[in-house]
Amino acid sequence: MDWTVGRWLAPGRVNLIGEHTDYNDGFVLPMALPLGVTCTAGIRTDGAVRVSSVQAPCDEVETTMTGLGSGGWSELPTWAHYPLGVIREFERRGYELPGVELALDGTVPLGAGLSSSAALSCSVAIALRDLYAPSVSDAEIIDIARTAENVYVGVPTGVLDQSASILCTEGHLLFLDVRTGATEQIPFDLNRFGLALLVFDTGSPHRLVEGEYSTRRAECAAAAEALGVPFLRDVRDSADVERLGDPLLRRRARHVVSEDFRVLLVAEELREGADPRSIGPTLTAGHISLRDDYEVSAPELDTAVDAALAAGAYGSRMVGGGFGGSVIALVDVDQVATVTDAVREAFARSGFDAPRDFVVTPSAGAHRLD
Ligand code: GLA
Repeated sequence: MDWTVGRWLAPGRVNLIGEHTDYNDGFVLPMALPLGVTCTAGIRTDGAVRVSSVQAPCDEVETTMTGLGSGGWSELPTWAHYPLGVIREFERRGYELPGVELALDGTVPLGAGLSSSAALSCSVAIALRDLYAPSVSDAEIIDIARTAENVYVGVPTGVLDQSASILCTEGHLLFLDVRTGATEQIPFDLNRFGLALLVFDTGSPHRLVEGEYSTRRAECAAAAEALGVPFLRDVRDSADVERLGDPLLRRRARHVVSEDFRVLLVAEELREGADPRSIGPTLTAGHISLRDDYEVSAPELDTAVDAALAAGAYGSRMVGGGFGGSVIALVDVDQVATVTDAVREAFARSGFDAPRDFVVTPSAGAHRLD
């Protein structure tokens, strides 16, 4: 049976600045990558659910809408929890799906801190919306994709990744106030300034990332409580943070409060059309804060950042949840090869596997391909 009715694409992201601020009700400034997940989808009316992925060729899942509602998820491959979680979440919210047929294929490196998971869940969510529930808003799509990860995969993420995948537009950074949901598209044309944004996928595993991520969330909640505010976003004066008695909570809060400030600063400079070279030191300050105060960096990430800066990058930082993953570096276009070589050499000297590197431009958010 030829069931194909369309193809949808949702991108991964890099966050220019604003790490670990989303679950503190703060600010983020991501852009979509020219890499994503394509979901080929078709309508079924027989109650069956079939999901396959090019990246998991031996793991095709066949079940039914009823079956999905009656448990047994532990038998299913982990990758399938993302698309099936999205399907289940549509149903749970009262959107009736008479059956689903999906084939997935992705180009975002897995586990690299570039939101391959959000690209996967968002590609499925927009496909299901177009096929079965056209009234669903972007905000609800983001919520469905996030809930799929939180509940059916068990990773307690914030909204950064899903918002970036759905709301980013080509040529722009997405400035998002997580509390209000207010967004602004800020032009980010590096080429005009002779600049390039390099990504190094360090290939280092997300060590302990899930447990540590939850721990950081809990520490932020405890710091906010000690400061008498609902969220760390509500800290008005950074001097308040220094009065926290517990040194660990003080460090965690210092990162979040200063990171929100860095997002606002970078957004302000770019909004006013500044030469992006001027934001370099703020990006690097973000890395130092994640490394020393939030303690989510890793030797490979620090090595890449240090080598990129020593080779002339204007700014460099780890992106995503941390404990491994990727680093960005803002460099002159004609320095891309020099910086790339420097990072590769530093990795070889440290005995790390060679990183993957690529230049990225702000790309389109999730959309239908055909
Ligand atoms: C992961 C989570 C996001 C966000 C980042 C850190 O990517 O999925 O919600 O918290 O970490 O900024």
